[in-house]
Amino acid sequence: MNDNPGMDTFDDIEVSRPALAESYLGLLAAQPGRPLALFAPRRVGKTYFLDHDLAPAAKRVGLVPVYADIWLH
Ligand SMILES: Nc1ncnc2c1ncn2[C@@H]1O[C@H](COP(=O)(O)OP(=O)(O)O)[C@@H](O)[C@H]1O
Ligand SMILES: [Mg+2]
Repeated sequence: MNDNPGMDTFDDIEVSRPALAESYLGLLAAQPGRPLALFAPRRVGKTYFLDHDLAPAAKRVGLVPVYADIWLH
């Protein structure tokens, strides 16, 4: 019996990275027009970070995040 109804499996855990998002926004602001790239093995949370941390943080400072998934082509 699970005595924590808010979390049934590990899939329910969400790790937020607000400080990392702020640091990337700082890098983008410091070098307008210059891209940043994230490189890491698959399934470590790059897309999740973009979607759940960086894009919302960017919206809050008035930026317009655009997501293009090349794999969908
Ligand atoms: N911060 C996080 N909190 C909870 N689950 C996460 C987190 N980051 C990634 N995941 C989960 O891990 C899996 C892989 O993440 P994903 O962002 O697709 O990896 P990547 O883009 O690096 O290949 C997904 O099922 C995603 O939901
Ligand atoms: Mg990805």
